[in-house]
Amino acid sequence: MASGLEGKVALITGAAQADGIGFAAATALREAGAEVVLSDLARDRQALSQRREEIGASLALHMDVTKRCEIDAALEQIQQHCGGLDIVFNNAGSPAGVGPFMEISEAQWNISLQVNLMGAVNLCQAAMPLLLKSGNASIINNASMSGLGVVANMSAYNASKFALVGLTKSLATEFGHQGVRINAICPGMVWTQMGKLETEHSRLEGESLADAKARLAGRDIVPMERWASAAEIAQAVCFLAGPQASYINGVALPVAGGMAPGL
Ligand SMILES: NC(=O)c1ccc[n+]([C@@H]2O[C@H](COP(=O)([O-])OP(=O)(O)OC[C@H]3O[C@@H](n4cnc5c(N)ncnc54)[C@H](O)[C@@H]3O)[C@@H](O)[C@H]2O)c1
Repeated sequence: MASGLEGKVALITGAAQADGIGFAAATALREAGAEVVLSDLARDRQALSQRREEIGASLALHMDVTKRCEIDAALEQIQQHCGGLDIVFNNAGSPAGVGPFMEISEAQWNISLQVNLMGAVNLCQAAMPLLLKSGNASIINNASMSGLGVVANMSAYNASKFALVGLTKSLATEFGHQGVRINAICPGMVWTQMGKLETEHSRLEGESLADAKARLAGRDIVPMERWASAAEIAQAVCFLAGPQASYINGVALPVAGGMAPGL
């Protein structure tokens, strides 16, 4: 069955990690017939080229989402190589600033807000002219259940992801009538590098990583009692990107196994 994504050009940020949500989304979009452009920080150059080969992506670009000049250069290459742009997945994210409020430095607040919020602002602003030309475009922002509710010790991350949900809804009202839908996904517990890092940070004294992993997805927290794979999150990205979601605009979709958003 046709996916409706055949020939669409999709740009994914933060896509270098083999087990990350970005690469999983790129893989799923590619399987659905989209032309895929991977991007990530320059430090991930080698990993990115490898990912490109693995799925036959059209381009693999170094693009720090906090740097408008790198974004503009990447969009120029996309325009030249792919002829346009239809889908943007703002996936790049940073866990900087997870921890007790009194221990989060100004530098960590800056990273959190610059990557998780301003990264999406920068790319949305820079890519909008191309997306408007598409006439049938979709932006998906990777927020988090931490953008819908809070748990303790994540103030900078929470603030950045709440703001990203706000940005999503705000842009949906401005561009929905111009053929660009803007939605967010809100994953819960996903077993990626970032998921592992957060589990490591949350370990109780003497607790093994495996026990911490099980505790964090206990039934009282995640009714499905397990972590998600990145591939499961990717399916939500494909759905929101494609024609099945043609009348969905401005939602922040939990993809979290029934997890409640907290406060
Ligand atoms: N893993 C989870 O449990 C979980 C839950 C909810 C939301 N998320 C969100 O999902 C997204 C992807 O995270 P992941 O879990 O796949 O982890 P990940 O570490 O694999 O992915 C994050 C990617 O973002 C990239 N990145 C960081 N700063 C960047 C910058 N300035 N410019 C460009 N790229 C940059 C990293 O290099 C990395 O490839 C993040 O936005 C994260 O907040 C993750």
